[in-house]
Amino acid sequence: MADPDAFIRCMPKAELHMHLEGSIEAELLLELAARNGLRPRWETPEALRGAYRFRNLQAFLDLYYEGCRVLMQERDFYDITHAYLRRAHSDAVVRAELFLGPQSFTERGIAIEAVMDGVLAAIRDATRNDGISAGLLVSAQRHRSEAEALQLLDAVMPWAEQIAGFGLGGAEVGNPPSRFARYFRTCRERGFRITVHAGEEGPASYVREAADLLQIDRIDHGVACMSDPTLVRLLAERQTPLTVCPLSNLRLNVVPSLAAHPLRAMLEAGLNVSMNSDDPAYFAGYVNDNFIECRDALALSDDQIVTLARNSLTASFLPSAEIANHVARLDAYVADRRLSAAPRN
Ligand code: HPA
Ligand code: ZN
Repeated sequence: MADPDAFIRCMPKAELHMHLEGSIEAELLLELAARNGLRPRWETPEALRGAYRFRNLQAFLDLYYEGCRVLMQERDFYDITHAYLRRAHSDAVVRAELFLGPQSFTERGIAIEAVMDGVLAAIRDATRNDGISAGLLVSAQRHRSEAEALQLLDAVMPWAEQIAGFGLGGAEVGNPPSRFARYFRTCRERGFRITVHAGEEGPASYVREAADLLQIDRIDHGVACMSDPTLVRLLAERQTPLTVCPLSNLRLNVVPSLAAHPLRAMLEAGLNVSMNSDDPAYFAGYVNDNFIECRDALALSDDQIVTLARNSLTASFLPSAEIANHVARLDAYVADRRLSAAPRN
């Protein structure tokens, strides 16, 4: 029998919301710890995976930042980026935009050169070897000050030409987007695309702030907007891209079940939503797992699945001609599948 998930697995798509630090599989994390002479609290990958049960975002972030400690040398940053991009390529991801938060490393005295050169070299190699397109999104941490976010922006300027955009992640409640208005304005003035995590655990008012911030290009998560119909209409009208991560929301108790996830309602409200994995190693699901599990839990139609993929491509930070090429490939893929599924006479 044909694989019922093949349509999703082979469908060209972009992944726009994925944190490199959250993509380190347990085996690789322990290998990096050993390489760097660290003694982690877990001796086996199974034991480490046993710790992946989270009450909320902060409980997850505590473990995620602990995991970051295994990354010390340029080669480590290369290896995690290489591993994710190989996996993404095999999932038919044609464009990946990867968050990385250098402040976790620079605060421990790791040189910014090791971080940036490792990630960027792996991106170049993956493009050359697999043809996958990838871009780096430098992310500031919102539990720190705006001054530190601005310092980070300055510190990565030597790599400006190779940076796809800037973001903001970490502990959301109590740290609204407006606290970082100057950071985002400065990014924008320097010609960068910008995206902000908002409305994951935080309220709809944070999503509204994000939408009202100077020319935000995308909002990460944004699911809390659904409690404010006026805001939903505004986001739908503007077609502001929302990078939604359903399995992340499930694992962090943002929703009680996938069946209760607002993804389908968001699509039906005309919002520009895409499907993403956020931290695939910690949340037991890469982008295709998110598609497949949501299709089953929410009875998504083929058209809705294709819409999610099309939105991921159009919301990417690629130049418009490259976006058009990727969309044409997706359209050809869908037309081809429809043709082969049609009855012959
Ligand atoms: N939310 C906020 N910050 C993050 C996340 C998330 O889900 N993952 C990694 N950093
Ligand atoms: Zn995220």
